[in-house]
Amino acid sequence: MSETIGFTIDGRPVRARPGQTILEAADAAGIYIPRLCAHRELHPFGACRVCTVKVNGRPQAACTMPAAEGMVVESNTPELTEHRRRLIEMLFVEGNHYCMFCEKSGNCELQALAYRFGITAPRYPYLFPNRDVDASHPDVLLDRNRCVLCARCVRASQQLDGKNVFQFVGRGANKTLWVNAERELADTNLDVRDRAVDVCPVGCILRKRQGYTIPIGRRRYDHEPIGSDIERAGAARGA
Ligand code: FES
Repeated sequence: MSETIGFTIDGRPVRARPGQTILEAADAAGIYIPRLCAHRELHPFGACRVCTVKVNGRPQAACTMPAAEGMVVESNTPELTEHRRRLIEMLFVEGNHYCMFCEKSGNCELQALAYRFGITAPRYPYLFPNRDVDASHPDVLLDRNRCVLCARCVRASQQLDGKNVFQFVGRGANKTLWVNAERELADTNLDVRDRAVDVCPVGCILRKRQGYTIPIGRRRYDHEPIGSDIERAGAARGA
């Protein structure tokens, strides 16, 4: 019996180890599938749906769907590109993502996705949220107006830091990132070196007193589109 699973992504043959998701197998093959909530070090969560692909004609989240023998995956199609573009635009208008004023600019995955998809201005009206900003922690700022509900911080605190600093409260449109404490971030055991601080893809969780240490224009996505590392590694392997 074969030890690997064979399937195709946009017609390209891909091999996966048993248990690997479509996203993991695509990464290993040098095929970039856009994603926002997925993170290499964290268990998949399936929140943002930016990674949506079609598997045998049906939409699935590539970050949670295990690879299976013979499956036919479509990713880079006009329909799925438009689906992802709409999701990204909706995330932009749902929060206060004013890149020109945000310390995360150039390192922000939402901004980088917008550039990759050629989004210059969202087609939807801005919702102008007014959520609590928690500046109580001596070293970390939490601006909920930029949260995309990806749960990376929730998962990283539990899975990487061995803590439980963050949680969600509310449902639907009222779902909000909160902290597991009596009142505010300063009441938690969050440390400025925690991985939960690192993994935020946007400017929701920021370290204080480190703003603009690297000037805008010299940051990661100022130089290369998001996903380039995966595609470059695949090209280097001859994938
Ligand atoms: Fe798959 Fe967010 S990356 S649902």
